[in-house]
Parts: sequence; C-alpha cells; structure tokens
Amino acid sequence: MEFHNRNIISIQDFTKEEINHILKTSQTMEPIASTGTDTLKGKILATLFFEPSTRTRLSFEAAMQKLGGTTIGFNDVETASTKKGENFVDTIRTVENYADAIALRHCLEGAAVVAAEYAKVPIINSGTGAQEHPTQALIDLYTIQKEKNQIDNLKIAIIGDLRYGRTVHSLTRALTNYNVELFLVSPEALRIQENILKETKSKIPVTEKQNLDEIIPNIDVLYVTRIQRERFPDPAEYAKLKGAYRIDQKTLKTAKKDMIILHPLPRVDEIAPEIDQTPHARYFQQVGNGLFVRMAILSLVLGATK
Ligand code: CP
Repeated sequence: MEFHNRNIISIQDFTKEEINHILKTSQTMEPIASTGTDTLKGKILATLFFEPSTRTRLSFEAAMQKLGGTTIGFNDVETASTKKGENFVDTIRTVENYADAIALRHCLEGAAVVAAEYAKVPIINSGTGAQEHPTQALIDLYTIQKEKNQIDNLKIAIIGDLRYGRTVHSLTRALTNYNVELFLVSPEALRIQENILKETKSKIPVTEKQNLDEIIPNIDVLYVTRIQRERFPDPAEYAKLKGAYRIDQKTLKTAKKDMIILHPLPRVDEIAPEIDQTPHARYFQQVGNGLFVRMAILSLVLGATK
C-alpha cells in the first residue's frame, strides 16, 4: 500500500484495504487536529479552485496548517492568469514548481486526469464537473463508520440529483466495497447515469425509487444532495425540477429513531432547517470530519504517514 506522491483522481483508484487505511488514518488525525503538529513543515499545498467552494478548499487549507504546512492558490479565476487566456496545462506546469501537491477543482470532467498527466506533483481531485469528488466520498464513509460503528449491513438511501451530483457518483462507487443495500431516490430526470447504475448493480443490491415513502422505515443512512443548478444545460429544466423533494418532519415520521441524515453541503432547500435540531442530522459533524480526512490524505500523499 503506497500513498506517497500518489494522485487522487477517482475513488475507484483505491482498493477496499486502501480506503479502510485512509479511514483509520483519519481517526488518528482527530487528536492531532486539536494540538497541531509540524510533520508537513516546509511543504506547500496549492489549492487551484476554478469553481466555487467553501468546505473543500477551506478544510484542505486548515488541514495543511494543522500539519505544519502552508498553502498557496486561488479560488477566483478572475484573479488568475486564466483570465488573460492562459491555458489549463500551462497553469498546472507553472504551479507544480511552487507546490508539493495540488488540490484541484474544475468544472470540466477529466480536468484532474489531464492535470495529473502533466504535473510532477500529486493531483488531488477536489471535484471535477459532474464526474467525481473522491475526497468527499472518503469523508462520507468516515462519517457513516463513526456515527453507525459500521458500514457493512446498512441500508443506505441517496436522494436528490443523482445525475449531476459528483459526490453521489464517488460515494456510490465507494459503497460497492462494502456489504450494503443501496436505494437511489430521484425524479426520473435526475436518475443516475446508466453506466454507474450497471456497474453498481453488478456489485451490491440497488433499488431505484422516485420517492422515499415506502423505504424510509427501513433506512439506516439517508444521504441528501441538492439539485446541481450549475450543471443544467437548460435553466428551464432546472426550474421544472427545483423543489422536487424536501426532507422535513413529515418525511421522517416513519423513520428509524437512529437513522442518520448526511449531506455533502451546500444545502439549498432540500432539508428543512427544523431537521437540524433532530438527532437524525449529522451533516455538520460530516463537515467537521472533512478536516480529519483531509489531514489524513495530505499526510499520506506527502509522505508524513505510511
Ligand atoms: N461538499 C463540498 O464539496 O462543498 P464545497 O463545494 O463547499 O467545497
């Protein structure tokens, strides 16, 4: 198992043993996050965010600082030389000279693969188009493990924009490593792509549904996502689907008492604020876990941890 200098492009790049190793390493980062350390002293992470972000960029930056390293980067393309017409590859070939790893977010699917082809430092896919968000999937798994003390033998429902949601694509693939039963809940227009569905069904039991009513009493984990407005080619199509589902007290009436609700965030209106006060809500714990998981990823990729 070797993580040093490794690219993180897709969750599919990892075996189950490697995923479990990252989860274990994340646990060891929890006390370190309180005290801080200097294991990455002298190391620099570049955060190149060609698309907006709050959690991913800030947690990578915080993780780097907790480990004694530093960060450079941009989160607004208007302030980068991209604005002057510099192409993506030239940007990567420039930044690789200044940093030991690059956390990249981009609207184009395949951007992380292209960056990894050219960069001499590891690329960490921090969300590419509607394709993948592998580090979010690791946070999701870590949160499930921590909150439910297991991943195996759970019934997990993912509801929302399964078509464009990159976190859904990475999480669905990640879950195929475990003995779980998966329910994919969405309006017809937002169903998961056929290739991911087929691939997932070949490994774990999957049922597609258009609403939660029938299945909610059996679910252990409800993973909610927002409709990805920015990915719709036609705004009228988004307008038709907006508000197609919403989790509120009524939705949860028949849910198990210990069912947990996760959401990669940001949330728009798909979870009513009243749910935040219930014992089901674990999405802000999930956000907090992002720090530990990203500390683990940086520590492993930059060679401070084996
Ligand atoms: N979950 C997630 O990727 O959030 P941000 O877009 O705020 O980084």
